[in-house]
Amino acid sequence: MRLQKYLAHAGVASRRAAEEIVRAGRVTLDGAVVTDPARDVPDDGSVAVRVDGRDVAPVRETVVFAVHKPAGVVSTARDTHGRPTVVGLVPAGERRLYPVGRLDADTTGLLLLTDDGALADLLTHPRYEVPKTYVATVAGGRVGPAALQRLREGVELDDGPTLPATVEQPRPGELRITLREGRKRQVRRMCRAVGHPVRALRRVRMGPLELGRLAPGEWRALDGREVAALRDAARPPADRP
Ligand code: URA
Repeated sequence: MRLQKYLAHAGVASRRAAEEIVRAGRVTLDGAVVTDPARDVPDDGSVAVRVDGRDVAPVRETVVFAVHKPAGVVSTARDTHGRPTVVGLVPAGERRLYPVGRLDADTTGLLLLTDDGALADLLTHPRYEVPKTYVATVAGGRVGPAALQRLREGVELDDGPTLPATVEQPRPGELRITLREGRKRQVRRMCRAVGHPVRALRRVRMGPLELGRLAPGEWRALDGREVAALRDAARPPADRP
């Protein structure tokens, strides 16, 4: 992170004022005076930053990665069976990343990883769960109107009926399902309940964020605008801008 930004984030001064403080020679990095406000400073505390001889605590920026989880990779941070984990797909460095929610090991598609615990909690809060869209390839060919209606209105599962869902069939045997809840193996159980077990399942959207062109195993860091849009999507409707 640029020194000027680091100081602003730490609450020393505005960015503009921080720039002047640096140019005035009041800032040291590991004891050496630095006058370039654009100087790169790691945000992990490995370099001692001081202003007028006083320590400035490091402020880390949090990150959010979008990952295309391949099949066979688990979405927990660690696996007791030694299977590859989704956290191992991204360059976390020193950061401790958490998956935002889960996908089954055999489900592919969009999964978020972040070191921002509060954001992860917000995005998985059952009350304001952001809608998630899945593409399911199902057995049994074309899904008939009665089965589609059940999927849309609510299917009785062993842990209770499902909430209304948006369900389309772009081609026979392929369903595009949007849920506002995230129970264990929910899409698989819903499709099985209407006589069309899932053969392949991929998550293609979470709130405003699409899987897009990410190939299996690929990742990208979200920009500030995308993270803000996710936060908005997780807020109760009355609080949205
Ligand atoms: N529904 C499922 O059945 N599996 C997933 O991984 C996600 C949603």
